[in-house]
Amino acid sequence: MESEKKTQTAAEQMTDKDLSEQIKKVTKDSHVRAENTELMLSFQRGQVTLPQFKLLLCSMYEVYKALEEEMDRNSNHPGVAPIYFPAELARLEAIEKDLEYFYGQDWREKIVVPAATKRYCHRLRQIGKENPEFLIAHAYTRYLGDLSGGQVLSRIAQKSMGLQGSEGLSFFAFPGVSSPNRFKQLYRSRMNSVELTEEQRNGVLEEAVRAFELNIQVFDDLQKMLLLSVPENQLQTSRTHSTPVKILQIPGAIMQSSPLLRTLLGLFVALATLSIGIYAF
Ligand code: HEM
Repeated sequence: MESEKKTQTAAEQMTDKDLSEQIKKVTKDSHVRAENTELMLSFQRGQVTLPQFKLLLCSMYEVYKALEEEMDRNSNHPGVAPIYFPAELARLEAIEKDLEYFYGQDWREKIVVPAATKRYCHRLRQIGKENPEFLIAHAYTRYLGDLSGGQVLSRIAQKSMGLQGSEGLSFFAFPGVSSPNRFKQLYRSRMNSVELTEEQRNGVLEEAVRAFELNIQVFDDLQKMLLLSVPENQLQTSRTHSTPVKILQIPGAIMQSSPLLRTLLGLFVALATLSIGIYAF
């Protein structure tokens, strides 16, 4: 914790040329777009649902698995070593705990991963091999984001899903970080200490915008998946209207398997037609 205090003075001396400032600046618009994805808006409205949260955890599991494996493999690389904080930041085990809570012990066989998540992971594996210094951009996007919103999102998730205690919410907890703000200062000063050529620095900044974009695509894909997975016989919500429109669908399977229901519905339609005819007459 002593090291966290020391960096507060360093933070005060940060300039526009610092990577931490530049990265925040270039991702400003992307951050706004990320905040305004359907999934993040559900969080902000306090309306995150269990299916949404479970799918998010599945994707985060894959993303952090790729990110943390690549960080571990490159932990001695000069572009990674200064920002390598597995004891304080690693998320993978926490997510595994949450997945077991929501899906049960056989969660590994049950998790669902959309295409956008696979693309995100593919990119992480690629840069882990080809440009390890670009991992700074991805670690910044995920870990500093989690540290910034973690506590608030945890409370919202707990309340909106009606969870008891903190079970299922380990993803948001950073027991190794006593003060998120101080830790973020330390992290920024470590980012600024990484020596990068002009070309590498531009590459990192571009990669940060890409990291946000990949996250946005994951969130959008999750929402699409949720819409597609709603069983036909349930009320469906159309997203083309600002006020959700609910559509009742009669499941085809029931119609096919129940001749009695078909007959009754036929009678109902015939009667309705007759009544309309009489009324019109
Ligand atoms: C519910 C949606 C979100 C809200 C309300 C939100 C809000 C915030 C706030 C208030 C901060 C602190 C800003 C500061 O200290 O100056 C922050 C920082 C941050 N957020 Fe978000 N955020 C959201 C989603 C995201 C997402 C989805 C990502 C990335 C995938 C993200 C990445 C970050 C990062 C990297 C920072 C650190 C910025 C820096 O200090 O350089 N946020 N966010």
